[in-house]
Amino acid sequence: MKIGFIGAGNIGGTAAKLFVDAGHEVVISNSRGPETLADVENETRAKAVAVEEAAVFGDVIFVSIPLGKYKSLSPSDLDGKIVIDSNNYYPGRDGEIAEVDSGLATSSELLAKHLSGSKVVKAFNTIWFEHLRSEGDKSKPIGERRVIFVSGDDADAKSVVSGLIEEIGFAPYDLGTLGASGIQQPDSVIYNKSINIEEARKILAENSDGASA
Ligand SMILES: NC(=O)c1ccc[n+]([C@@H]2O[C@H](COP(=O)([O-])OP(=O)(O)OC[C@H]3O[C@@H](n4cnc5c(N)ncnc54)[C@H](OP(=O)(O)O)[C@@H]3O)[C@@H](O)[C@H]2O)c1
Repeated sequence: MKIGFIGAGNIGGTAAKLFVDAGHEVVISNSRGPETLADVENETRAKAVAVEEAAVFGDVIFVSIPLGKYKSLSPSDLDGKIVIDSNNYYPGRDGEIAEVDSGLATSSELLAKHLSGSKVVKAFNTIWFEHLRSEGDKSKPIGERRVIFVSGDDADAKSVVSGLIEEIGFAPYDLGTLGASGIQQPDSVIYNKSINIEEARKILAENSDGASA
């Protein structure tokens, strides 16, 4: 699969390497240009390109930037693509976003509204990049692996992203729609927890009313 990364820092760089190792064609990008990504290129063996090229190249686009920058993403370049949203909302870094603060929308719904022709899937945002690097284990059965949570409004897109998660040794856990993805935000009961599907199900059952793996 062709995967384009917009943002190649802690999470983007780590995920890019995992997908290269899994046999995918991967390109990486940032806002400052490919010449600033030589080290990440060496580490990941993914080619560094301009943001626009990464967007056009990928069937799947992995967006991993400070959320406050989401309006810099080009809706036309990303039209029709599956967009993985690993972004988290930190008001101190991203600026206060009234719709999210008031509960009117999740940050992923705002991204999906901006990228109205894309299929946005929230994933990879609840795991610390060092754990993403080290805790995937393809030798384990799905039930014993650490979960990575996914939310999205397009079932096919979620299925593609879930497949990618399995390929790098984790277990996808479907939380439902983008509207329900607020549970994936920092400091929630499932955020940054090294848990398997059963443990996730238990925590969610105790704290909400009904997501399923
Ligand atoms: N760190 C974690 O463990 C972790 C875990 C889960 C989720 N997250 C979330 O994932 C996102 C990325 O986090 P991170 O820790 O990987 O951040 P990071 O290390 O600071 O990397 C951010 C990347 O995005 C690029 N970037 C910034 N603005 C951009 C823009 N407008 N267009 C294209 N590229 C842009 C940066 O490069 P340039 O500045 O050169 O453009 C850099 O490559 C954040 O929303 C974060 O909250 C982080």
